[in-house]
Amino acid sequence: MNEVLQNILTRRSVRKFKEEQIKDEELELILKAGVYAPSGMNKQTWQFTVVQSREKMELLAKVVRKALGRDAGYNFYAPPTLIMLSNEKENVNGLADCACALENIFLMANSLGIGSCWINQLRTICDEKEVREVLSSFGIPENHIVWGMASIGYPEGISKAHERKDGVIKFVK
Ligand SMILES: Cc1cc2nc3c(=O)[nH]c(=O)nc-3n(C[C@H](O)[C@H](O)[C@H](O)COP(=O)(O)O)c2cc1C
Repeated sequence: MNEVLQNILTRRSVRKFKEEQIKDEELELILKAGVYAPSGMNKQTWQFTVVQSREKMELLAKVVRKALGRDAGYNFYAPPTLIMLSNEKENVNGLADCACALENIFLMANSLGIGSCWINQLRTICDEKEVREVLSSFGIPENHIVWGMASIGYPEGISKAHERKDGVIKFVK
């Protein structure tokens, strides 16, 4: 089978990770795949913020839990690496650009045997005081929204494949 399609077909959202950190060389490839995603009008106004400190990730999880009323244990599935994709609020393509970068990240990770999952919780709460304080302490600009995050790490176990719905493709000839 075509290698790109094979990679796409074997990607799964992974929600359980080994504690072991991924290798720096692997992270470098994953980030490279992300920054080579397309962006509307080639603006590239995004920022890729890589969090690898358990303590800082917990600090972020704590303010997210508080803002959204999530369960005490909620921590983005405790990945060893969290990549936060943010973009300027004023950029109308901010979400689309970050989504393209995230998919590149997921596919690159999968090709290396690394699991990943989109984490969606930040987008509506970035300007809540305590959340913004943590984002600023991570170096995320004040005018940025975190549109999505990628939990990244070696997978613990195999995730289930989801069936695809029929009838979503229409041809006009
Ligand atoms: C825009 C978007 C937001 C998502 N948000 C979350 C999330 O917050 N938490 C989560 O566990 N999975 C999240 N996911 C992952 C989806 O649940 C997952 O892609 C879907 O169930 C299909 O499974 P698959 O990725 O294994 O094919 C998100 C996916 C997308 C595209």
